[in-house]
Amino acid sequence: MKRGVVVRVPAKVNLQLSVGPVSPDGYHEIATVFQAVSLFDDVTVKVGDDGSGITLTASGITSGVPLDSSNLAVRAAALMVNRYDIPKDIALHIKKEIPVAGGMAGGSADAAGVIVGIDALFDLGIARDELEKLASELGSDIPFSISGGIAVGRGRGDELTPALSRGTYHWVLATSGQGLSTPAVYQECDRLREGMEIARPGVSDAMMQALRAGDAQAVGAAMSNDLQAAACSLKPALRLILDVGNDYGALASVVSGSGPTVAFLVDDEERALDLTVALSSSGVVAGAVRATGPVHGARVVETL
Ligand code: C5P
Repeated sequence: MKRGVVVRVPAKVNLQLSVGPVSPDGYHEIATVFQAVSLFDDVTVKVGDDGSGITLTASGITSGVPLDSSNLAVRAAALMVNRYDIPKDIALHIKKEIPVAGGMAGGSADAAGVIVGIDALFDLGIARDELEKLASELGSDIPFSISGGIAVGRGRGDELTPALSRGTYHWVLATSGQGLSTPAVYQECDRLREGMEIARPGVSDAMMQALRAGDAQAVGAAMSNDLQAAACSLKPALRLILDVGNDYGALASVVSGSGPTVAFLVDDEERALDLTVALSSSGVVAGAVRATGPVHGARVVETL
């Protein structure tokens, strides 16, 4: 019997995010291209002490992380405990590197880590697509945190099709001190579009071709995010950050998901380093980190 497992889960950026009109259930049909990038949370899943229930501790970049049952990781553990014949006492620990409320699926990554971790810890042998289905019950981005790589997400973003892609992409990710709430950004998007005819969402052929060719410049040219205007409206400083990156030679810049993290695509590692230094000393960002993608999704890296 294993004592515990450690699952490493990546952050994501949305290379394209096309948002359709709001549905009666409050969600939006979207079409998005996800890429998993090399910024990781490590989720440790262990059997807890008798009668302890589900507990959660965190280390690393933990400011703003709730440790109670509102945390998606705790909700993921509760879902697994209710669905499968496993012990009810689960001790979770998250070592956080992915920004909180940053538009990079940090909370989703942790929930994905718990689902994959519980499956591995108790040898449940749940098929990958079943794991992704469980994940979609908790949040739209969690299935991608499990699958990783590059994928097109449709529906709420949870219906995934892997995308053909060549090469490694170099990113600089500029983080903000204060996060943005995803529902608030979608609401602001609806407000800005009031009275407009909104087309059905779609990803562009130009993006899919650029990925197949491994052409970073063309990927950069095809990057877009329908939530960007809303994120900038709620956080005007983002416009400044987007400009700074362009001034320092980024191929393209885009707000990641619902923001406020800004993702800059650059040519190579050297450019990434230059831009990281420029952004860090610019005073307009809270932090700047380098990452590459695509990387794999949630997977067990240690058995305790
Ligand atoms: O699915 P998830 O819990 O991550 O979604 C958080 C919120 O983001 C939803 O409550 C909804 O307001 C918004 N959302 C949306 N359309 C999507 C995904 C999320 O409106 N496709």
